[in-house]
Order: sequence, then structure tokens, then C-alpha cells
Amino acid sequence: MHTVLTIVVAAGSGLRMGTAVPKQFLPLDGEPIVMRTMRRLAEGVGRFLTGCSSDVNNTVENSNAAHPNHSLLLVLPPDAITRWEELCRQHRFQIPHQTVPGGPTRFHSVQNALRAAASDADVILVHDGVRPLVDDATLARVITTAAAYGTAVPVVPVIDSLRQLSPQGSESVAVDRSAYRAVQTPQGFRGEWLRAAYEQPYDEIFTDDASVVERLGRGPIVLTDGSPQNLKITTPFDLVVAESWLHQPK
Ligand code: C5P
Repeated sequence: MHTVLTIVVAAGSGLRMGTAVPKQFLPLDGEPIVMRTMRRLAEGVGRFLTGCSSDVNNTVENSNAAHPNHSLLLVLPPDAITRWEELCRQHRFQIPHQTVPGGPTRFHSVQNALRAAASDADVILVHDGVRPLVDDATLARVITTAAAYGTAVPVVPVIDSLRQLSPQGSESVAVDRSAYRAVQTPQGFRGEWLRAAYEQPYDEIFTDDASVVERLGRGPIVLTDGSPQNLKITTPFDLVVAESWLHQPK
């Protein structure tokens, strides 16, 4: 059986939401977004590891357990760790996890997590703290693909038409959207590959984990199907969409 470490990155400032509270702590159906993300991952990865197959399920049960082969690590802004601990008490959140202070960029946040992790899991997932609706089927595809091929990146087709800007940004040309995919998380990796990748020096083009692992040159990045419900909550509109998704009759 696999051992899985899930790193949840939530150390960004969340400025696009335009609220005083960082977006990862805004309530979604009564619970901070990132707490809901942690529960969803504990439940979904736990289900995969216990081998119980279930249909795509977006509910977050009020469970306070993690599978024994699954460790969770949460990366937070350094000045938000105390606030998180208070929120855990308030919401009776007891899923075992380690917290780690984030760095100046996403790359440095993941690097801090990998250096602090007590786990030597064979598969590591890295997930955005603001994607609380990730479904079981996406999690299962990412874990099985990462274990088999070393990398797994969930993607969805691009829905909008795309235009590429000229270097000055004053002109644009149409591009073929069928040649592109939008990238989601969790991205999954063979543990040893991800740990080696994050020992490389930082480069500005590292906007996600796949770009860091790609630089190692151990093989192509393998794409898996993501899901439209795996929304990244970035704007107040996304929060409304996520709330109504959760309140949909099942
Ligand atoms: O900025 P962006 O939306 O791409 O961030 C993706 C994820 O990385 C978010 O969950 C954010 O909280 C996290 N992040 C981080 N540390 C940073 C910057 C972003 O953990 N320094």
C-alpha cells in the first residue's frame, strides 16, 4: 500500500479577494476554506487508501480522522499560525497535521514544507488551500498515476477563447485553445523526485510543482483528467459558486 504525504499550500496573501481576512480563512458554508480543504483531502485520500471506491463526492463529512498511511502538512503565512490554531479549537478540527511557515513565493513555501516534513511518503501531493471541492475521482487518478509514472498533473480543457499578447501588450493574435490545458491541483509526484526537485535553485518560471519537477529532466510530466468542480476560490464570485455547489441537492 502507498504512503501519501499531502502538502496544502495556503501561505499566499490572497489579495485578489479584496478582503481584510486572507481568502484561505474566509468562511465557506460556516467553515474556513482551508479547513474544508484539509477535511476533503483527509476524507478523499483516506477513502482511496482504504480501497473503497466511491462515486465523485463533494461532501465534507465532519470526520476528524486521517488514514494511518496519510500525513497532512499545512503551509501558512508565518503570522497566521496562531490564528489557525484558534480556528482549529473553535471548529473542533482534530485531523492530525503539521503546520509550517510559508516563504516569499509558492516555491519557497513548498520547499519549507518538504524540509520540515517528518514523512518519507512514496507519493507526495501538493494542493492549493483554496480548492476545497476536489473530488475523490481526481484524487484517485492523481495518486495512481504519480505512483506509476512519477508525476501526475490534473488538467481541464480551456473553455474561453485565447489571445496571445505581443511583447509590448499592445497587439494580440488568436491562438488555438485546443492546444492548451488549464492546470489544477493536487499535483502528485514520486516522493523522491519532488524532494530532489525542490533542492534546485529558485527560478521565476516555477509557478507550480510540475514546472519544478520538469527541470529535473526525469521524464515527461504526465497529465490526468481534473474536474470542473475542483474550483480555485480566487474572487468573491467563486465563493458564491462554491457555496451553491455545496447546497445542491445530492
Ligand atoms: O498565487 P497563487 O494563487 O498562484 O497561489 C497558489 C497557492 O500557493 C495558494 O494556495 C497560495 O496560498 C499558495 N502560496 C503559498 N506561499 C506563497 C504564495 C502562494 O503557499 N508565498
